[in-house]
Amino acid sequence: MRLIGSLHSPADRPAPMTSGEHGFYARTFFLVAAVVVGLGVLAVYVVDNSPIGMRYVLRTRIVRGKAVTEIPADARAKVEPILTERFGTPAAPKIDLEGWESDGARLLRGAAFYRRNCMHCHGVTGDGDGPTARFLTPRPRDYRLGVFKFTSTVSSAKATREDLLHTVLEGMPGTMMPSFSLYDREDVEAVVDYVIHLSMRGEFEEALAMRLLDGDDLDEDVVEEEVELLVEGWADAASSRQPVPVVQPVPSSAEAIARGSELFRGAGNCISCHGPSGRGDGPSVQGMDPDVWGNPIRPADLTRGDFRGGFRPIDVFRRIHAGVKGTPMPGGSMTEEQMWDLVHYIRSLRRGD
Ligand code: HEC
Ligand code: HEC
Repeated sequence: MRLIGSLHSPADRPAPMTSGEHGFYARTFFLVAAVVVGLGVLAVYVVDNSPIGMRYVLRTRIVRGKAVTEIPADARAKVEPILTERFGTPAAPKIDLEGWESDGARLLRGAAFYRRNCMHCHGVTGDGDGPTARFLTPRPRDYRLGVFKFTSTVSSAKATREDLLHTVLEGMPGTMMPSFSLYDREDVEAVVDYVIHLSMRGEFEEALAMRLLDGDDLDEDVVEEEVELLVEGWADAASSRQPVPVVQPVPSSAEAIARGSELFRGAGNCISCHGPSGRGDGPSVQGMDPDVWGNPIRPADLTRGDFRGGFRPIDVFRRIHAGVKGTPMPGGSMTEEQMWDLVHYIRSLRRGD
């Protein structure tokens, strides 16, 4: 039997390369490599410097939650003074927007509390990229997109003050977001003002940069237009709280749980992401785009009981009703009775119950 290594008789083997051939291959290799690198550098240059390219970079980064850090230097130079005029500086924050009430002293107090307790995770500008952030999964929230996951509002609306207050008081179980319920309540109320300040500031910065890249000048009309949109969005949050619950919660029962289980597998299609046992390992998870902050999607493990948005029946109801913003977790299109059945089923999944 022939050994694998001797499949070719010596006569079949290609002749060894001469040094001239070596030189030829090496030169060709370096030439090709140089052309590839050169094209890469050129592409980066074009993308970075042409107006179309800049827009591309900005839009790409917005999708991945990094828009603000990617604003080109010349646009930033034009946006910065307007931002400072409207929002002050981190040391002396203010909100100067028509139609938005803000308490200057409380904002200052919130900023001070933020620096001591939140900044190392959430960053100076609220970009979610403080020095501790890189060690955490999930990452601290980047406020600048104006999107918050756990709200009581309909799926297209922003968070209310109460939603943010709830998060800061309760923390987010199963993540590194701590609870601040033992702190002075006035401080916690003030820091919520400051979170809204950073969030508005980030959104405004992005909106103005987009206007510049769309070819507009940042004249007074344009700035006022953007102010109006911004204020409208935040003011609307309060009025778009879900009308929950219209139907009195159906008390939990074996029948309700059984109906919930059926919905979970059937019409609700929850198993596609959360998996048949609710552990967050459904088939749809593969290849999903990242969430709006650019982080990988991880459907909740519903058997753990430490829900980020809270485990009270009303918390779970809101998740099913409004979804989890910024992620593919959808808001429900079922009747309220069906949603309550799901609430009871999901709460029954907690291991050890
Ligand atoms: C140890 C790090 C850490 C500290 C300190 C911290 N957070 Fe967080 N925070 C997080 C993480 C992580 C998340 C995101 C969890 C997620 O995406 O599910 C988060 C999320 C949030 C959210 C978003 C809630 C939502 O619905 O999207 C708010 C608001 C928030 N934090 C406010 C604060 C405030 C205010 C402070 C200080 C008083 C603070 N955080 C301190 C880590 C931290
Ligand atoms: C397209 C995928 C997808 C589908 C379908 C889906 N979910 Fe989710 N779900 C998620 C993701 C992703 C999260 C986690 C969001 C986060 O915290 O980052 C989540 C979170 C949740 C939470 C919140 C847990 C917490 O930590 O507070 C509940 C409750 C939940 N889902 C229930 C359901 C129910 C009930 C259904 C069916 C009606 C469903 N989900 C359908 C993706 C999905």
